[in-house]
Amino acid sequence: MVHINDNFTKLPSAYLFSDIARKVEAFAASHPGEKIIRMGIGDVTRPICPAASEALHRATADESEAATFRGYGPEQGYGFLREAIAEGDYRSRGIEVSADEIFVSDGAKSDTGNIGDILASDTRVAMTDPVYPVYIDTNVMAGRAGTLGSDGRWSRIIYLPVTAGNGFVPSLPSERPDVIYLCFPNNPTGTVLTRSQLKVWVDYALREGSLILFDAAYEAFVSSPEVPRSIYEIEGARRVAIEFRSFSKTAGFTGLRCGYTVIPRELCGLAADGSEVSLHRLWLRRQTTKFNGASYLTQRAAEAIYSEEGRRQVAETIAYYKHNASTLLTSLREAGLEAYGGTDSPYIWLRTPDGMTSWGFFDMLLERCRVVGTPGCGFGPSGEGYLRLTAFATHEATAEAASRIAALRL
Ligand code: MLT
Repeated sequence: MVHINDNFTKLPSAYLFSDIARKVEAFAASHPGEKIIRMGIGDVTRPICPAASEALHRATADESEAATFRGYGPEQGYGFLREAIAEGDYRSRGIEVSADEIFVSDGAKSDTGNIGDILASDTRVAMTDPVYPVYIDTNVMAGRAGTLGSDGRWSRIIYLPVTAGNGFVPSLPSERPDVIYLCFPNNPTGTVLTRSQLKVWVDYALREGSLILFDAAYEAFVSSPEVPRSIYEIEGARRVAIEFRSFSKTAGFTGLRCGYTVIPRELCGLAADGSEVSLHRLWLRRQTTKFNGASYLTQRAAEAIYSEEGRRQVAETIAYYKHNASTLLTSLREAGLEAYGGTDSPYIWLRTPDGMTSWGFFDMLLERCRVVGTPGCGFGPSGEGYLRLTAFATHEATAEAASRIAALRL
C-alpha cells in the first residue's frame, strides 16, 4: 500500500466548520420544524449585487458565442480584473500596488492555505491565537507544526495570544519567527489593530527579516479612520508582507469564489545557497503549475463591483451586515454579556458566562435558543471561554437571535 503523508494523521479528525455543521444537522434532524438561526460559519446571506449579477450574465453570453468565447485564462487572473483591483483597492487610496503584483484566485482560504508551498519545510511560524483554522491545519499538513501537546498547543508553532487580557493586541514574540500570520480585522475575535499597532509588526519584520502573511479578508468592514485596510498603508510593508483579500464577505462571493493575493515585486526570500529569490516569481511558478485561474465568469462579476454602481451596491450590503453587528453588540452587552469586535468587523466575540466552556456555551445556545455560534476553543487554546457569532444573518434573524440570548438572563 502507498505511504500517506503522516502529518494528516496529526490533525483533528474534521475541519472545525465541517464538525459544527454535522452537529447542527444532527440537532436539526432531531428537532424538526424548529427555527434554527445559524451564526456559526461566516457565510453570507445577501445575494451578489445587481452589477455583479448582470456582469455574470454578460460573461455567460460571451462564453456561449464563438466570437467572444474564452477558454483557459491567464493563471494570474485577467488583466481587466487585476487593473480594477490595483486602481480600486490601492492606487485610489494612495497605496502603491501594481496590477502585475496581484494574483487572482478562487479565494483567500486557498491562498492562505497554499502559500506554504513556497516556504521551507522547517520554517518557524507564528500566529495569533485564537486563529482562522486554515493557517494552523495547513502548517500541520506541511509538517511545520511539530506535535500537539495536552494544552492544545503545537510544539513548533509560536503562539501570539489575543485575548481580553491584552486588549486583543498581540505582543511581539520572544522567539524569532520566520513567518507571522496576522489577520485584521481579526477572525475570529472581530477586533482590529490601529495603524500604529500594525506598524510595530512591520517594523519588527523589517528588523528581524520575518515575512508577514496579512489576511485582510474583512477589510471592507473597516470604518474607523485609525484602522488600516491594507498592510501596505504602513511604510516598509512592501518589503515584508504578502496580503490576502477576498470577495466572499465583501461582495457575497462565498458561492462564486474569488479572491486575490498581493506579492510586491521587491519581496524576497532566501534560497539554501544564501541567494535572494523573488517570492512573486515563486508564487507565479506555483500558480501556473497548480492553478488554472478563477473562472472568466467569476472574474467579470468581480470586476463589476469596482464600477460606480457596483461600489454603491456593495457598500449597501456591508452596511446591512454592520447594522446586524451593531444590533448584536448592543443587545448582548445590554443583557450583561461581555462582547467584543463587531465595530469594524462582521464577528462578535462573546465571553462565555460563569466560566462556562466554549462547547458548553455552544450547546446551551443551540438547545435553549436554537442559535448556532462557533466555540472559541475551535480556533485555538486562547479561544477557550469565548464563542463567535457572525453578523451575516438577515436583520430579522439577527434581532431574534439577540433577543433569544438576552432572554436567557445569563
Ligand atoms: C469563517 O467562518 O471563519 C469563515 O467563513 C471561513 C472561511 O472564510 O473560510
